Amino acid sequence: MNWWKNAVVYQVYPKSFQDTNGDGIGDIKGIISRLDYLETLGINALWLSPVYKSPNDDNGYDISDYKAIHPDYGTMEDMDVLISEARERGIRIIMDLVVNHTSDEHEWFQEALKGKDNPFRDYYVWRDPVNGGPPNDLQSSFSGSAWEFDENSGQYYLHIFSRKQPDLNWENETMRREIYDMINFWLDKGIGGFRMDVIDHIGKVPEEKIVVNGPKLHEYLQEMNEATFRHYDVMTVGETWGATPENAALFSDPDRHELSMIFQFEHIMLDEQPGKAKWDLKELDLIDLKNTFKKWQTEIGENSWNSLFWNNHDTPRIVSRWGNDQEYRVESAKAFAILLHNMQGTPYIYQGEEVGLVNTPITDISQANDIETINMYQERIEQGYSKEDILKSINVKGRDNARRPIPWSNEEQGGFTSGNPWQELNEQYSTINVADALDDKESVFYTYQQLIKLRKEHEILVKGQFKLILEDDQQIFAYERELGDEKWTVIANLSETEQSRSVGNKIVQPVISNYKKDSYNLSDLTLKPYEAFVYKN
Ligand code: GLC
Ligand code: CA
Repeated sequence: MNWWKNAVVYQVYPKSFQDTNGDGIGDIKGIISRLDYLETLGINALWLSPVYKSPNDDNGYDISDYKAIHPDYGTMEDMDVLISEARERGIRIIMDLVVNHTSDEHEWFQEALKGKDNPFRDYYVWRDPVNGGPPNDLQSSFSGSAWEFDENSGQYYLHIFSRKQPDLNWENETMRREIYDMINFWLDKGIGGFRMDVIDHIGKVPEEKIVVNGPKLHEYLQEMNEATFRHYDVMTVGETWGATPENAALFSDPDRHELSMIFQFEHIMLDEQPGKAKWDLKELDLIDLKNTFKKWQTEIGENSWNSLFWNNHDTPRIVSRWGNDQEYRVESAKAFAILLHNMQGTPYIYQGEEVGLVNTPITDISQANDIETINMYQERIEQGYSKEDILKSINVKGRDNARRPIPWSNEEQGGFTSGNPWQELNEQYSTINVADALDDKESVFYTYQQLIKLRKEHEILVKGQFKLILEDDQQIFAYERELGDEKWTVIANLSETEQSRSVGNKIVQPVISNYKKDSYNLSDLTLKPYEAFVYKN
């Protein structure tokens, strides 16, 4: 079995993890200093959001040199130490691979700007104006046109993200080969693989306004695999917001030699009005959540592999989104953890999730840092939305929520930095922090620790068949896993009220639970708010 099938991956957003030199910015040495903590948690791999050289227009997702470390984070030597120190603790480093676009400050783009004859010109996507304007009305994911005019050459270049993130032209084979060389440069350092940023964009056809899942996407991924991953024992996970269970297998069927798995986002987008922007909110509905997981757990097929996550650096905190971050913060954080970590797939934990960190609402746009949020705010103000409405969406969905510095303790600045943090910590850090979680055997941390351990010890969690039960129940999310003669059942009350059900005729002992209880009577089950437990049938 591939090592990543029973692995648990932890995502670090380096800027906010741990500062060691007082400049208020997390750094690689800070990550090294917390490896013992991560070993205690039990994770097997650490996905590092970008630490490459970058002007930070999009916090590192705009890379100006793929083979250099941003001085804010440290040096290549620090990186090598991180890789080897992690490995000594059984943790592999997963690098973020951002190859849909570069920074406009990347040498290739700087060359490309010199004119139509420059050999690097074709590394990017250039088009002539149409009727004196942009080639078409393709929109950027960060608001406004996806085309930017270049005065010097009289052409437009494509940027699906910010104008400082020009899209690479994957039609150009020389460019592709340079990317594969760069991938091998990192693989040769002994890393454990890559998380591949917006990878379903690389086959885009701007003329036809096809951005994701373009006709050549899989051809490129197979070529990349052949030139790189296939020669190493690594995992790859593609970020694919447009994935469906049908096309998931195209990426992750091992016989196709593309990726190990993908991130699908259907469960993340359940709070959005279909066809609208992520900011246009819709009421949450537990039945939708259950059906989405049912679909992904059962329909991707035997030859495909799921990833499991509630959170990353682009999403709000799970306990604030689907849980209750006030009265039932601890209970709901544990309930969602128990639900996810007993499913089929490779689980990912985003920094701070393991101690139940919550969203950080803002009251004015000046408190925002994220380019997506700031651009959207300006655009919507111009379109006549009220400030209150926009802020409401930002507080529910904005990316800054999950990007606040980690509170390691209740010391000043949560022990994140001895200086001024690049972004304020959540003000609750004196009560919600890592040190307190470690001191409290009933904290969210120990539930995560136990869940990670269970996955390593029980094959059923890795290989068992998934079956949703109590399908129409509006408050309870329950499912079974089955492998050979073994069957486990997971039951979670995701409501804020007590729920009574009769689901069997036995008295069972929990394998794991989030309320202190030695046994559960299935014929007369009373579940407290967010109570969740797992038992063996
Ligand atoms: C991905 C990243 C996100 C970034 C975008 C552009 O969605 O997760 O943070 O802004 O790609 O690179
Ligand atoms: Ca620092």
